[in-house]
Amino acid sequence: MTTPQVPPRPAALITGGSGGIGLELARCLARDHHELVIVARREAGLAAAAAELRAAGAAGVTTVPADLARPAEVERLLATLHASAIDIGILVNNAGFGTAGAFARTPLDDELAMIQTNVAALTHLTKRLLPAMLRRRSGRILNVASTAAFQPGPFMAVYYATKAYVLSFSQALAEELRDTGVTATALCPGPTTTSFAARAGMEETRLFARNISMSATAVAKAGYAGMMRGDRIVVPGAGNKLVAQASRLAPRALVTRISRRLNEGRSRPD
Ligand SMILES: NC(=O)c1ccc[n+]([C@@H]2O[C@H](COP(=O)([O-])OP(=O)(O)OC[C@H]3O[C@@H](n4cnc5c(N)ncnc54)[C@H](OP(=O)(O)O)[C@@H]3O)[C@@H](O)[C@H]2O)c1
Repeated sequence: MTTPQVPPRPAALITGGSGGIGLELARCLARDHHELVIVARREAGLAAAAAELRAAGAAGVTTVPADLARPAEVERLLATLHASAIDIGILVNNAGFGTAGAFARTPLDDELAMIQTNVAALTHLTKRLLPAMLRRRSGRILNVASTAAFQPGPFMAVYYATKAYVLSFSQALAEELRDTGVTATALCPGPTTTSFAARAGMEETRLFARNISMSATAVAKAGYAGMMRGDRIVVPGAGNKLVAQASRLAPRALVTRISRRLNEGRSRPD
């Protein structure tokens, strides 16, 4: 007698899965024995994360080094998945970064790379991986936005705008996907202890210097649970929930001035 072949459970793809919030989300998925694909630029970071995730229970880990700030690399990632016959059932669009400073003086190339990574790559991967989820009538999409999505952010104008896009796109998509078996969730963390603030040059700003950052573990745990439930928005932490709610209710001009104060350093970033 032959045992009927059970098709393997589709894998989870996590962009930026080698560090910070992405690695913590990957750990959550590994503990539930998912097959994982993790993507980041640096191979050494990917290799270290893969070893740890296998030990944590992942059914398998594939690493794909790719710079999502380059559109051709998004296509190369998709081609790698296709060539390896890896189906994706959970898409975690987490990779992203910010830059700080007065818009008149910040480098355009950095901002175009940010829009490509935070917005275009996220949209590109969702567009290409969603159809198979719909055919299976099963899938989860988690887009990592930010509490920055709820208001404009002077001195981080482009970053806040990218996150407003991620939130708006995810909410619209979630409604389009109603009753399809596929869900879209926007995770909106506030300040979180990762490499993000250092890369953005934000460590001395009021936002990060106030020492109110959440741990990446707590953020990921909330995001993972929300994604699995199919929640449309997850704002981890009571303080961040308050910020999100207040930003919605207070006059936009006031919220924008407060945001400016938080993004300014002890001296104004420029
Ligand atoms: N930390 C916060 O305070 C905070 C708050 C709200 C929202 N977020 C959002 O959370 C997400 C994760 O940020 P994080 O704080 O965990 O940052 P992080 O600690 O800097 O980790 C970023 C991850 O993304 C990868 N990555 C960065 N640029 C990439 C690129 N161009 N292509 C491919 N992979 C790339 C990094 O690996 P490599 O460097 O090797 O590429 C790393 O694995 C981002 O979307 C961020 O905007 C963060």
